Amino acid sequence: MDYIHLSMLKYDSKPGDALLMDREQADQKFDDSAKPYATLFKPYLNGAKEIIVGSITSKEDAEMALALADLVAVGRENLIDPLFADKVLNGHADEVVTTLTAAQAKASHLTQGLIDTFSAPQLGIPINRADDLKALHEGFGAWTEMKYPQNDQMK
Ligand SMILES: Cc1cc2nc3c(=O)[nH]c(=O)nc-3n(C[C@H](O)[C@H](O)[C@H](O)COP(=O)(O)O)c2cc1C
Repeated sequence: MDYIHLSMLKYDSKPGDALLMDREQADQKFDDSAKPYATLFKPYLNGAKEIIVGSITSKEDAEMALALADLVAVGRENLIDPLFADKVLNGHADEVVTTLTAAQAKASHLTQGLIDTFSAPQLGIPINRADDLKALHEGFGAWTEMKYPQNDQMK
């Protein structure tokens, strides 16, 4: 195994975080519940590199995440501003765009599928979006828009 990538919503997520398990239960069940997953996985990497991801939107976030793992990945922020890494690495961290406006979605060449995902009335995965993005919504985007057939229509 060359690497392990922990897919998390926050790079320093812990076992007791919301959505995962409540803090009180985690404290009772795991001695290490106050430690981030990034740290908890370390003893078991067996030489593999550890990649973490989640809510990195600035140079400072990236640096704090790098203190916990070998590599950091950037998901939504990279979709909002594909020049994120370039700006952070080349002294233009203050120019990073962190809000997905309609103009930025076009400038970043987001596909219509991604635009539909992030402009859906209710978001499946939250993103820092501006209201004007909703005007670009063409159709089915997030699972929040799924319509299930009635039982008798199922084959
Ligand atoms: C459009 C989209 C699709 C995703 N699909 C997956 C997936 O299939 N499997 C997975 O483990 N995580 C998936 N994620 C979650 C990401 O891996 C990541 O944990 C999350 O976006 C947090 O990182 P970020 O704040 O840098 O976006 C997805 C995220 C987005 C925005």
